[in-house]
Amino acid sequence: MKNDIQNIVILTGAGLSAESGIPTFRSKNGISYWESTDNAGVPFFHRVEDVCTPEALARNPALVHRFYDERRTTLATVSPNPAHEALAALDAAWPGELLIVTQNVDDLHERAGAKRLIHMHGELQSALCAACGKAVPWTQALPPGTVCMGCGQPRLRPDIVFFGEMPYQMDAIDEAVRHADLFVSIGTSGAVYPAAGFVQTARHVGARTLELNLDPSAGSIYFEDSRLGPASQLVPQLVRELLG
Ligand code: OAD
Repeated sequence: MKNDIQNIVILTGAGLSAESGIPTFRSKNGISYWESTDNAGVPFFHRVEDVCTPEALARNPALVHRFYDERRTTLATVSPNPAHEALAALDAAWPGELLIVTQNVDDLHERAGAKRLIHMHGELQSALCAACGKAVPWTQALPPGTVCMGCGQPRLRPDIVFFGEMPYQMDAIDEAVRHADLFVSIGTSGAVYPAAGFVQTARHVGARTLELNLDPSAGSIYFEDSRLGPASQLVPQLVRELLG
């Protein structure tokens, strides 16, 4: 695996954090439906795609903020798993270019020690001012109407890239993928673009492409190689191969 590889891009998704106890979106036991209660305490279910949108935020900010408050609270109860740790070890030891691009909004890559990391879908522990665009670290509940310390407007929202919004740092990601010798996708269903399209750019520039996932994904056909199994086993094995 190591021969002739210098530049590596690793795309991670919800499957990487599944064994830490954070539910995925689309696999079995995923949170494709979120259970909440109305004002009278009656439970009802929301499709995640109906909660994670700019329209939902405008229509019902309390609901959207509560969804992300719950996710942020969960972070205190989870820890990085061997897959996060192996990627952090690879990041620390790899002498060439390396970029971990995560779709995950948890902070488990950082807690494991990864440094060369982009959160393309935002971060739970960040709040974004919808008025001035400033992002600030945020670890508590975030009620709608919270005032931005930068501009004074009551417009702080979760710093999450909603469906229909532009993911972060696309230029840097595109540059890295275009120079990759190896592109690895881990624990993502390949259902959400633009991340699902990175493999095609990587192939176009001649990179080797490898998918690690529990089940075959929607994008499996685009990868040269696929390995099926839990990330906590497959990722440490891959890192051992790469580091020799
Ligand atoms: P998904 O829930 O769509 O897919 C998770 C993938 O992980 C599935 O293909 C599972 O088979 C796989 N998986 C589950 N457990 C695993 C394990 N232990 N080891 C390896 N693989 C495992 O999650 P994403 O592809 O990350 O966007 O979803 C992409 C985006 O859709 C998310 O970032 C989120 C969501 O809407 C935003 O929040 C903007």
